Amino acid sequence: MQVQSFKIAGQQVDYYFDAAFSALHQIADTKRAVLITDKNVFNAHKAKFKNWRTIVIEPGENHKNFDTVQYIIGELAGYEVDRSCTLIGVGGGVVTDITGFVASIYMRGVRFGFVPTSLLNMVDASLGGKNGIDFGLYKNLVGNITQPKFILQDVSLLQTLPQEEWENGFAEIIKHACIKDKTMFDALAKHQLSEYMGDRELLEALIRKNVFIKLKVVQKDVYETGDRKLLNFGHTIGHAIENICQIAHGKAIAIGMVLAAKIAEKETGFDGTEKIKAVLKNYNLPLMIPFDAAAVFEVLKLDKKRADQQIHFILLQKTGKALVQAISLTRLKSYLKIFEKES
Ligand SMILES: NC(=O)c1ccc[n+]([C@@H]2O[C@H](COP(=O)([O-])OP(=O)(O)OC[C@H]3O[C@@H](n4cnc5c(N)ncnc54)[C@H](O)[C@@H]3O)[C@@H](O)[C@H]2O)c1
Ligand SMILES: [Zn+2]
Repeated sequence: MQVQSFKIAGQQVDYYFDAAFSALHQIADTKRAVLITDKNVFNAHKAKFKNWRTIVIEPGENHKNFDTVQYIIGELAGYEVDRSCTLIGVGGGVVTDITGFVASIYMRGVRFGFVPTSLLNMVDASLGGKNGIDFGLYKNLVGNITQPKFILQDVSLLQTLPQEEWENGFAEIIKHACIKDKTMFDALAKHQLSEYMGDRELLEALIRKNVFIKLKVVQKDVYETGDRKLLNFGHTIGHAIENICQIAHGKAIAIGMVLAAKIAEKETGFDGTEKIKAVLKNYNLPLMIPFDAAAVFEVLKLDKKRADQQIHFILLQKTGKALVQAISLTRLKSYLKIFEKES
């Protein structure tokens, strides 16, 4: 088992690459740890949870809320968990976001670690220390930034991941390539989803590359005042479409990246939109969906990156190089109108 330590905002995060779930007991004492997972992951990997105290929550974004936080805290108190314990989130981004949040408030904070089981969580959500829950319609409205003590990565856990969740994970991988890594973009263009799904080494190398990309960005800018904003490429319009059209995050982000690339054509002279579309297709991701521009605009106005009458929008200069540029709401509205006609 290889471990690599990263310093993020003065906190050490130990990253166990290419590890096995069974090695978890070498990192955390079974008697002093509580695992938190969701029903899907628990049912798919029951045997692995033997010997561990485990709290199982309902799966899905709808349960990333205060009710689940309360449920987990009740269970922890029932187990008489004290400050010497470690909470370990084993699951997708919903599980780790909520585990990190509970751990950072239970008894004013206990140690926590993650075992991500979805591709999206391995390359994105488990990294960077953002913990939190939704509040009604507002995604991630409540939370904090606290780093996990460790992350254990076991790609064999992905064997039970539904195909659609693989696709969602690839949307974030393609995002990383678009903003930071032209070489990875070209590799993604050469391969197909099925090749990564069937080749453990190829997949591990890809995950590792993405972990490095995200951690490097986060190390430089933990509190999102600069470079970390670039990770929102495709997410401004994407989140609004996700909300209005009720489609999966990865799919919405894919469409958001296509539309952001089209905006970049006008704003920065970017000329790689067709290549991005071709890569997205390789991973079964959609390029467009019929949408109501006015409805999308109403949601867009609530974006966290809005300042007055402008939105700090992530644009590409070229593939592998992104920048933040303020675009007025009126200008965005007119872009959306054009895209609505094309959709
Ligand atoms: N903290 C961050 O910086 C950050 C970044 C990106 C996303 N997120 C959050 O992450 C969440 C999305 O993460 P996600 O896509 O992993 O969603 P998720 O946790 O809902 O998992 C997706 C689905 O896959 C199932 N699943 C996960 N692993 C499985 C496995 N190995 N076998 C079978 N089923 C499995 C889950 O039960 C769920 O139904 C969102 O809440 C998002 O806000 C957080
Ligand atoms: Zn995302």
